[in-house]
Amino acid sequence: MKTSTLFSIFAAVALSKFSVVVAQEESNITATILSNAAADDIDLSVLEILPEAFAEIEEVYVNGTLEESTASKRSLGRFARRATPNNIVDSHAHVSPAWYKALYPEIGGAEVPDWTMQDQLAFMEGQGIQRAIFSFSTPGPLVWPSSKVLTVALARLLNEQAAAYCRAYPGRFSFYAQVPLPYTTETIHEAKYAIEKLGAVGIWVQSNIDGKYLGDASFKPFFQTVNSWAGRQIIYIHPAVPVLKIRNQVYDANPTPYIAGKIEFYFETARTLMDLTLTETIHNFTNIHYVIPHLGGAFPSTVDRILKSYPTIYNSSFEIFSTRFWWDSAGPTFFHQVSGLLGIGVPSSQILYGTDFPYALSRPKRDPWPP
Ligand SMILES: *[C@@H]1O[C@H](CO)[C@@H](O)[C@H](O)[C@H]1NC(C)=O
Ligand SMILES: *[C@@H]1O[C@H](CO)[C@@H](O)[C@H](O)[C@H]1NC(C)=O
Ligand SMILES: *[C@@H]1O[C@H](CO)[C@@H](O)[C@H](O)[C@H]1NC(C)=O
Ligand SMILES: *[C@@H]1O[C@H](CO)[C@@H](O)[C@H](O)[C@H]1NC(C)=O
Repeated sequence: MKTSTLFSIFAAVALSKFSVVVAQEESNITATILSNAAADDIDLSVLEILPEAFAEIEEVYVNGTLEESTASKRSLGRFARRATPNNIVDSHAHVSPAWYKALYPEIGGAEVPDWTMQDQLAFMEGQGIQRAIFSFSTPGPLVWPSSKVLTVALARLLNEQAAAYCRAYPGRFSFYAQVPLPYTTETIHEAKYAIEKLGAVGIWVQSNIDGKYLGDASFKPFFQTVNSWAGRQIIYIHPAVPVLKIRNQVYDANPTPYIAGKIEFYFETARTLMDLTLTETIHNFTNIHYVIPHLGGAFPSTVDRILKSYPTIYNSSFEIFSTRFWWDSAGPTFFHQVSGLLGIGVPSSQILYGTDFPYALSRPKRDPWPP
């Protein structure tokens, strides 16, 4: 018997076992999601989009099984050729299934890109990316900020959707948990569920929540509790649209004629890092590591202006930025911006590779990717 035939038989056996496991999970998956939510007093049926989301979750399991079959054939071929595996990790990627885009079709002044898992896998293949750590992008679950019931339910559904993508393609993806801030108690609960039960690698938060930056006293119990959990915890701080609060009404605040996603997002990152630094949130909760997109946006170039007025925390802050902060390179950051981050003493070993797919700037809508 030729070696290649032997390999295909092992692969066929492994595959049929895998298919059975997935088929069982699949027939149960939505029931399991509903009952886990109910056990946590979360009513997912308040979300009108639930059937579409469940359809995507079920479909991704089926597709993942098929993909697994072709991937195992491919990797046997690679093994035979002794090709070097590609180990690039993309630490800033987004998923955006059609049902989520339907809830929030525009962000930061630009249309949310159309995305499918097929696009994601093709992009990774084209770029030699083995694994992507993804999140849902801004605004995460904060689609109806004044409704706790809807925000809590959407955070759970986003986490189940993210976990489904990860399980359907084992070894290819990890995800950041979504949390229903500003509802702190529910946020702590959801973060724990997503990390312990669904395998999230960290927690996604956005730069401001309904106009409150992350150092706000109302969020302190969240940081305090996450810090108390065993081991290193990761908080990922994604930029959002800045807002103004006037007589309890929240308005999008974009002071220039340019789209907020291109300009204001970088200042948002600077604002919220300033807030976390001046409130000493980053100093006090030492088990928390932070991942900051876009090499810190406008933060490196503004940090001295801010921190020189606070000499008692000046040195310690820079020490934290160089050790417990990780900075991703998403965006056109390598023309000039990277010099600013290295210039404040952050070692290049704290920089992570990130693509921002499928939100990367300058991509004409619906162009094939990779070109
Ligand atoms: C899930 O599958 C198991 C058997 O694997 C079965 O006992 C159980 O009733 C199923 N649950 C649902 C909700 O279908
Ligand atoms: C599953 O695969 C089909 C066929 O390639 C594709 O049209 C569909 O979008 C995929 N669905 C998911 C959820 O990946
Ligand atoms: C951090 O601790 C300092 C005292 O060392 C205190 O002044 C500050 O309010 C604390 N900040 C937070 C967010 O706990
Ligand atoms: C900060 O570091 C500088 C240079 O290492 C040192 O001269 C200064 O005394 C330090 N400041 C504080 C407040 O520790």
